[in-house]
Amino acid sequence: MSKTGTARTGTVDAAVRLYGSDAFANMRRAGRLAAEALDMLVPYVRPGVSTEKLDKLAYQFAMDHKAYPAPLYYRGYPKSICTSINHVVCHGIPNSKPLRDGDILNIDVTLIVDGWHGDTSRMYTVGAVRRKAERLIDVTYEALLRGIAAVKPGGTTGDIGTAIETYARGERCSVVEDFCGHGLGQVFHDRPNILHYRINTAGEDAGAGVVLAPGMIFTIEPMINLGKAFVKILPDGWTAVTRDRELSAQFEHTVGVTRDGCEIFTHSPKGWNKPPYPVV
Ligand code: MF3
Ligand code: CO
Ligand code: CO
Repeated sequence: MSKTGTARTGTVDAAVRLYGSDAFANMRRAGRLAAEALDMLVPYVRPGVSTEKLDKLAYQFAMDHKAYPAPLYYRGYPKSICTSINHVVCHGIPNSKPLRDGDILNIDVTLIVDGWHGDTSRMYTVGAVRRKAERLIDVTYEALLRGIAAVKPGGTTGDIGTAIETYARGERCSVVEDFCGHGLGQVFHDRPNILHYRINTAGEDAGAGVVLAPGMIFTIEPMINLGKAFVKILPDGWTAVTRDRELSAQFEHTVGVTRDGCEIFTHSPKGWNKPPYPVV
């Protein structure tokens, strides 16, 4: 192990499950349905609509497709999706408050299809949003893509966080450290943890973390803030907000490690991976 060279550290974690082609086929179906649920919600996200309405639509979509929304009753969570508006970082609980012009919103959907979890989230804009909000959304999506680009056998989970944080900092944004991506499959939250930040700033351990191998399946879901990285949880026990009340954004894909990189299971079939979405 070299302190100065490009040699990679990182642990080989035998407890991280490796999946075969049948599992990948199942994850393709689960990921696609979750992405289709996000597509379905696009025309409903507009001023005056409540997040409770979006939750009901997502629940009905799941039922119509013989799927189950994984968040519902998960550790006592009361709804089918998470809806995180403006300074809400993640795990916002749908409620009866109407969306307002200028809001930015993350919708996070996890659907269980034949026992397999597809987990994905996207940002949505409500009416006309401010330029700095648009920029944050663009930066966050690009951060996710940079993380995904770091996924390949022999790389490490640390490479993902390093790619994300290096890019986000360069854009004068901060990375939330309190929540991470996660392995998933027939379990919702499994090993490995996918940190979205570098483990230290000394520069020697860009490769730290778990060594990636073909067959691993996990999410990457960076939360990027315009202000400081610090978050707090509201008294409801779920809603995470930025302490400085500055805007936060998040995108999430579920990916599987392949021989030469990774496969994204949760691409939008309509190509609606990030705003602006077409007016339909
Ligand atoms: N879908 C979220 C994730 O990306 C988890 C939501 S768990 C809930 O891991 F209970 F808050 F819904
Ligand atoms: Co997730
Ligand atoms: Co999610």
